[in-house]
Amino acid sequence: MKPVSPFLRLHEPTATVRLTWEGEEIFAAPGDSLAAALLAAGVDTFRASPVSGAPRAPYCMMGTCFECLVNVDGRPTVQACMTEVREGMLVCRQMGGAEVNDD
Ligand code: FES
Repeated sequence: MKPVSPFLRLHEPTATVRLTWEGEEIFAAPGDSLAAALLAAGVDTFRASPVSGAPRAPYCMMGTCFECLVNVDGRPTVQACMTEVREGMLVCRQMGGAEVNDD
């Protein structure tokens, strides 16, 4: 069953951007932040806490709290609120901490 979002758009988008969340296709408006697009699609858990495993979701929507971290196209620790949607993005939850990659 498709989740129902408590977040409503003020205007219906005239164009759409197609992306994939956890294997399911969702649609966003051009210029949406990834966090706004996921919230509008009814997504309520973006990541799991690396300490307790508790579900987390965006809080500040301005790049400060880091509660919105997701994996985008295989890259972990992407701030969804600071990332603009792009056609064909593959997005999934970040479970636990990301590995540090120093290359
Ligand atoms: S929602 Fe706070 S950093 Fe993204």
